[in-house]
Amino acid sequence: MRQGSGFTIYLYELAWILPSIAIPVGMLAALLVTAFGAGIHVPSVAGRVDPAKLAETVPFDTPGVVQTGPLSYEVRLVGQIWVFTPNEIRVPVGSTVVFVATSRDVIHGLFIPGANVNVMLIPGQVSRVKTRFDRVGEFFIACHEYCGIAHHTMGGKVIVEPRS
Ligand code: CUA
Repeated sequence: MRQGSGFTIYLYELAWILPSIAIPVGMLAALLVTAFGAGIHVPSVAGRVDPAKLAETVPFDTPGVVQTGPLSYEVRLVGQIWVFTPNEIRVPVGSTVVFVATSRDVIHGLFIPGANVNVMLIPGQVSRVKTRFDRVGEFFIACHEYCGIAHHTMGGKVIVEPRS
């Protein structure tokens, strides 16, 4: 059997070294594009609250939907075993909605498939996430952090209505 020449070995080395550079560079590029181009990022802590005093803490003392401008709304949402308050949210199509949310007891999740909302609700911590509802219809709200025996029943919906 013919032994590989020095040049062949050099080619094999290149075949391993180049992907080991190209793959991390590609991943970094994907990260930068999603973070700055597509605006996808990890939601940060938007504040702290005492979970035992939510009833006296603005804005969680009045959970619900508040209009903050033309086609812009704020949803003040509290998760607790095993309900979201509010659990039915109505906004007109094209609305920008900021969810300001927290948990009263254990860790819950706030996940709205199709609406770019996916945050954890951690007792003591305020989660803030902004999205826009561009199509009429119903969006399911799910708790996606296991929070006990009835976790699977914890849900709600966003109803996006046509503009009148
Ligand atoms: Cu709340 Cu799972």
